[in-house]
Amino acid sequence: MEIESNKLKSQFLNFPGTRYMGSKHKIINDIWNHISDLKFHSFLDAFAGSNVVSYFMKCQGKQVITNDFLKFSSTISKAIIENSRIQLNEIDILILLSEKAVNYNDNFIQNNFNGIFFTPDENAFLDRTRSNIELLDNEYKKCLALASLIRACMKKQSRGIFTFVGQRYDDGRKDMKLSLKEHFLNAVDEYNACVFDNKQNNLSLNIPVESLDYKSDLVYLDPPYYSPKSDNDYTRRYHFVEGLCKNWEGLQIVEKSKVKKFKSYNSSFSKEESALNEFNNLFYKYKDSKIVVSYSSNSFPTKENIAGLLSLYKDKVIVNEIDHTYSFGNQSKDNLNNFVKEYLFIGI
Ligand SMILES: C[S@@+](CC[C@H](N)C(=O)[O-])C[C@H]1O[C@@H](n2cnc3c(N)ncnc32)[C@H](O)[C@@H]1O
Repeated sequence: MEIESNKLKSQFLNFPGTRYMGSKHKIINDIWNHISDLKFHSFLDAFAGSNVVSYFMKCQGKQVITNDFLKFSSTISKAIIENSRIQLNEIDILILLSEKAVNYNDNFIQNNFNGIFFTPDENAFLDRTRSNIELLDNEYKKCLALASLIRACMKKQSRGIFTFVGQRYDDGRKDMKLSLKEHFLNAVDEYNACVFDNKQNNLSLNIPVESLDYKSDLVYLDPPYYSPKSDNDYTRRYHFVEGLCKNWEGLQIVEKSKVKKFKSYNSSFSKEESALNEFNNLFYKYKDSKIVVSYSSNSFPTKENIAGLLSLYKDKVIVNEIDHTYSFGNQSKDNLNNFVKEYLFIGI
């Protein structure tokens, strides 16, 4: 039993790191130290982002429900959290890399993103591979392949965000030198290695939290942090990989945008007033679960607001502080705004 549980925990080392904005990868062990004594079996990660927290909980043997309104986030979680056994094999990779298959997406990327993020050859590779993904015969294989293509784009794009044209921050890192195809093949290996069975029915969702209707023993809330100093718009930063994931279906590109972004999804967390109200709605909705909230010290609503609201629904509220340097937003690494305290509110 002990060996089995150690095996599950060492599986977490396979999780491929990203520079996802607000990722809890660096502090996941601190978070765990604060909540490991709580009794819970099912775990709902309502704003899963990079999925690092959900994947960690899968490795602890929990039953995980992971959710994000970004389709690309939930595609990754479907591939490595909901999926417990399907991997991409050599034949799948041959299909994915085939240059002869029919191109179903009418060279969308070559036609719309020429000269923006990647070279013409790389755009052709993306169009081809995106189209070949549809030839795979299994939903989880499609998610693994798509997750790998998304990872390739994020690794190849400097800073992993799509807010500027060209390689403005090319610092000569190895990631910038590898081709998109090399990144893609590396990512296939990395995500294949993430697939494992923790003997639970795990679920990946793609629902705006405002209409989420799933319950669990413990609910983890890590919403975007509203601050007047910077925007918390995830769609603006990651529009290209979100578009790639949806094949831009139903998304309208804002033509005057230099980076060809589409109109951002609405989130109650993008304005101070609606954020406070939505915290209240979420705390009410999950009043029968243990509630854990991550939030940062330079954001609104304030620490006092959140602790006050939570105590309306919970007998006991504990506020922990974790020192944390955020890996970025749009700011430079040494911007003081990035040195913040990360609060972890626990309502039981
Ligand atoms: C702070 S990040 C979560 C980071 C995550 N815990 C991690 O470790 O990577 C917030 C996430 O909330 C998502 N989000 C924002 N508004 C949302 C909404 N209304 N419904 C669902 N997800 C939302 C964003 O797409 C983003 O991935």
